[in-house]
Amino acid sequence: MMNKIILAPSLLAADCCNLGAAVKQIEAVPSAWIHFDVMDGSFVPHISFGVPVLASLRRITSAPVDVHLMVCHPETHIPAYIEAGADHITFQYEAAVHHHRIIEQIHTAGKKAGIAIVPSTPVCALAEILPDVDIVLVMTVNPGFGGQKLIRRCLDKAALLADLRSRHGYSYVIAADGGITKENIAEAGRVGVDVAVSGTAFFSGALSDSLRS
Ligand code: DX5
Ligand code: ZN
Repeated sequence: MMNKIILAPSLLAADCCNLGAAVKQIEAVPSAWIHFDVMDGSFVPHISFGVPVLASLRRITSAPVDVHLMVCHPETHIPAYIEAGADHITFQYEAAVHHHRIIEQIHTAGKKAGIAIVPSTPVCALAEILPDVDIVLVMTVNPGFGGQKLIRRCLDKAALLADLRSRHGYSYVIAADGGITKENIAEAGRVGVDVAVSGTAFFSGALSDSLRS
């Protein structure tokens, strides 16, 4: 029996003039996470939103805020996102050297630590930190943009991560991020994805309808 996939709608695709309403829309989906995409214009080309927006949204919701840092030097940003109310902090494997130390930095603050890998980074790169992380975020698009098409072979990483987790008794959840639609979310769940991040499909109304049906 496939466990029910958790949806993590990405605010990057919401109407930024009305993020409070977007949060309420996310809260209407049982167990949903609020995926908060932070882009620094350096690790990825665009700049999105940051600490002041998170701190404001924290005041109106108790839903899990799942911060995705697409930033260089994530260790310098993490304390401010913890202070602003993040529940999970996921940073890019490619943006850091001292991954183990950064995971400890997040855990010391009592938050869940996630590691994200871009499409060209293999799962084996994470071998030494899989025992420590709470979330592995498999980017199923190239980070930095919403509305892209899912790169299907990235889902194979979820199957590999699920196999490693069961063989070694790891405890991370497997998340997929980018291009998730009502057409591919069931396949994502079948191959091992526990949490599906969706921006465009969710806020266009397509995906949330299929979840209800
Ligand atoms: C991309 C972000 C994703 C993105 C997902 O860099 O990390 O979370 O917002 O949006 P869609 O579902 O539109 O691909
Ligand atoms: Zn993201």
